Amino acid sequence: MEFLNNIQNRYTTKKYDNTKKVSEEDIKKLKHILHLSPSSINSQPWNFIFVSDEETKNKLADASFFNAERIKDASHVVVFNTINNKSFFEKQINENLPEGAVGYYNAFLKEKPETEVVNWLSHQVYIALGVFLSACANMDIDSTPMEGIEPEKYAEILKLDEHTPLFAVAIGYRDENDANQPTITAKQRLCFDDVIKSI
Ligand SMILES: Cc1cc2nc3c(=O)[nH]c(=O)nc-3n(C[C@H](O)[C@H](O)[C@H](O)COP(=O)(O)O)c2cc1C
Repeated sequence: MEFLNNIQNRYTTKKYDNTKKVSEEDIKKLKHILHLSPSSINSQPWNFIFVSDEETKNKLADASFFNAERIKDASHVVVFNTINNKSFFEKQINENLPEGAVGYYNAFLKEKPETEVVNWLSHQVYIALGVFLSACANMDIDSTPMEGIEPEKYAEILKLDEHTPLFAVAIGYRDENDANQPTITAKQRLCFDDVIKSI
């Protein structure tokens, strides 16, 4: 299917069919797709945790406000985490990136305050979100991006130390009556000409 059709048909799923699971084969593909996400200077300041274990999923749901039901009924929830401190990130790039990339970081970012650098790191994780949502659309897997989570509780449940959760994505297959699907509720976007410009 053409990519434009994928994007027209994808939507933020609000209600899942809890009897349907994403196949292991598709989960493997999604893991590889995330692994290949692009990032500035190939910094890759992230990890991605795929949760299918029901007990863990329920714990995360209880730390997810109004998103709880989606997480419980979805097949999997994927937690997107960013490295949360400069020293761990610098160790990672010094050990893994070529001289040019480390040089760019040292010249333009290293001296900036910790919060600014960590903010830059978190931007990279959002690129992976775009890749992931597009991949799900391409594979006919329904998804729900969720910033409505409690990052501290997530970090505790997942035993994170050098990483902080930014958001999670529930994936699975929609309940056939989900009112948010585009065939029932038309997509809402700002006026095309106000957003898309040509010179
Ligand atoms: C970073 C991000 C965080 C979001 N957080 C939530 C959330 O916590 N719960 C939710 O139901 N939808 C959430 N959304 C979904 C947006 O509301 C949705 O993408 C937007 O309204 C456009 O609708 P569509 O995705 O159906 O096209 C989030 C979307 C993004 C990109």
